[in-house]
Amino acid sequence: MTNQEQVPPPIDGRDPANLRGDPIDGDRYYSREFAQREWDMLWTKIWHVAGRLADIPEAGDFLVHNFMKESVIAVRQEDGSVRAFYNACGHRGMRLVSDSSSLDSFTCPYHGWRWGKDGVLEHAQDAEDFPQGNPCGKLSLKEVRCDTWGGFVWYTMDDDGPDLLDYLEPMPALYRNYPMDTAVRVAWYRIELNANWKFVTDNFSESYHTRTAHPQVPPWIDQDVDTARHEMWPKGHGRTVQPMRPSLTDRPASGLNEVFAAILKSWDIDPEGYDSYEDFVMEGWKDLKAAKRKLWKERGYLHYEHLDDEEITDSPHTVIFPNVTISFLPDNLVFFRSEPHAEDPEKCYFDLWCMAFPVEGQEEVESIMAGPKPLREVDECEHRVFDEGRGIPELAGQIVYQDMELAEGMQAGMHSRGYGDAYLSAQETRVRFFHEVLNDWLEGRRP
Ligand code: FES
Ligand SMILES: [Fe+2]
Repeated sequence: MTNQEQVPPPIDGRDPANLRGDPIDGDRYYSREFAQREWDMLWTKIWHVAGRLADIPEAGDFLVHNFMKESVIAVRQEDGSVRAFYNACGHRGMRLVSDSSSLDSFTCPYHGWRWGKDGVLEHAQDAEDFPQGNPCGKLSLKEVRCDTWGGFVWYTMDDDGPDLLDYLEPMPALYRNYPMDTAVRVAWYRIELNANWKFVTDNFSESYHTRTAHPQVPPWIDQDVDTARHEMWPKGHGRTVQPMRPSLTDRPASGLNEVFAAILKSWDIDPEGYDSYEDFVMEGWKDLKAAKRKLWKERGYLHYEHLDDEEITDSPHTVIFPNVTISFLPDNLVFFRSEPHAEDPEKCYFDLWCMAFPVEGQEEVESIMAGPKPLREVDECEHRVFDEGRGIPELAGQIVYQDMELAEGMQAGMHSRGYGDAYLSAQETRVRFFHEVLNDWLEGRRP
């Protein structure tokens, strides 16, 4: 049984008749009032990713997630669960910690109050000097709701909103076959871009730009307009599923497709054994599925046991509303996220986490967005400023770098009197869908 049979049917993400047609005005990419409304109505109510569970294996290990001017700590408890608290001392509000680390308790640098992992105050200087009574054991850090899915630690500042799994629906059911919990983060970047955060979600909601911006992709991921499946769900999430086989439209002039030939060869398939380019693509893709089904165990691809026929070769590129994108590939999970800059709506932080599903005996993996990497968890996030590419020269030419190169020009265009609304193709329907769901949130109509 495929996953599609177990989740609610998607809304057709290639049919604008499913939308209201709200304009995507330029103002929303730079207006401070709009950004403030996003803080009030969106960011303080959605579920955020604080980090990976793998980063906090032991009791006392904690993540710090700074979001605009807010900061939240997610701490591993003695019983293995994770709880999250605002990173503000209950005495006079001092920020307690600045970076993810490990501590038995949180001692405030101002007057020395000490808070336990469970958020309860353990020690205060001159505890009997408080007319309100001794605060120890009585006061707690203000807690935020925290939960986990997919090996990620999530939290929300909203005390009343839906539970995480409800919020994510239908992602947990849709992606239950992937070993998300044990994916290893092999590349980890946070890159400052001169664009509003929504540029990133817009960009990941369509593949129409791929032929222009990423000419290296069509030889191994089919970009033909009628082969991809575009899906949307009521909560604002959506995806495009593309077969990982060559496009039949963009044929190499030489008739040779070295990229796909190498993939076939690596699974013991003879790329020369086909009568035509069509057969090489279509039969080769089917042969690849069959070869993976036959050889996965002896080659150590243990996670293939659970992947369905589509998942074992193809790539669902998935936006989780409003700002998380996960690209699933048979051997990788690429997590992208954009977060607004605290002061300037024309800047954002773009997170790139390349993760690999470990294969027995493999020491190096292809990270998809950052080149080959050793198969091990990276400890530190690389903080960079894009700076027209100068800030991350090692990613030059990568798909994600090509996307980042477009950010500033799009941001500039949003200010032009020549821009009024997007003129979308059907395959870009999900771009407007994103803005319509955003509008719903901003007006207090949470789907
Ligand atoms: S502000 Fe933290 S102990 Fe005073
Ligand atoms: Fe792209």
